[in-house]
Amino acid sequence: MLERLTRMQFAVVSVVGAFAVAGAIAAILVAATIGFGWYNTAADVPHMPMVAWLLHRTMIRSVKAHAQQDAPRQFSSQQVQQGFAEFEEHCVMCHGGPGVARAKWVMGLEPTPPYLVDAARR
Ligand code: HEC
Repeated sequence: MLERLTRMQFAVVSVVGAFAVAGAIAAILVAATIGFGWYNTAADVPHMPMVAWLLHRTMIRSVKAHAQQDAPRQFSSQQVQQGFAEFEEHCVMCHGGPGVARAKWVMGLEPTPPYLVDAARR
């Protein structure tokens, strides 16, 4: 019985130890990646797929978590006009609109802002 318990304890200590070593190695790799600037953060170089997925997922979850409320089912005409006015003032130059092209200078941005009329379909 005592031998069995000791084996079990040994197994638990081994598993915990393996996780600790794996965690330490992961921490060293992360620190080295940051410290030596191994990861290329230039906007004109696409993220590694895993990083792109992580960032996009984080953005989607963050927007959902911080949204004040769900979009209303119906908008009043005043809300629609206010939305158009705000979009025209702050967004249309980069994202375009129905029948409105994005400003030419926007094509020099990295990444190029998505044409949001297409995004709505997705
Ligand atoms: C200076 C240019 C610029 C302006 C102004 C701008 N955006 Fe953007 N927007 C971008 C860029 C660039 C991206 C893409 C970012 C990326 O892919 O990492 C983007 C992405 C987005 C997306 C995500 C689209 C998708 O398919 O995931 C939404 C939604 C958005 N913008 C809404 C807005 C709204 C609403 C406004 C106005 C209040 C606005 N943007 C103003 C440049 C701009």
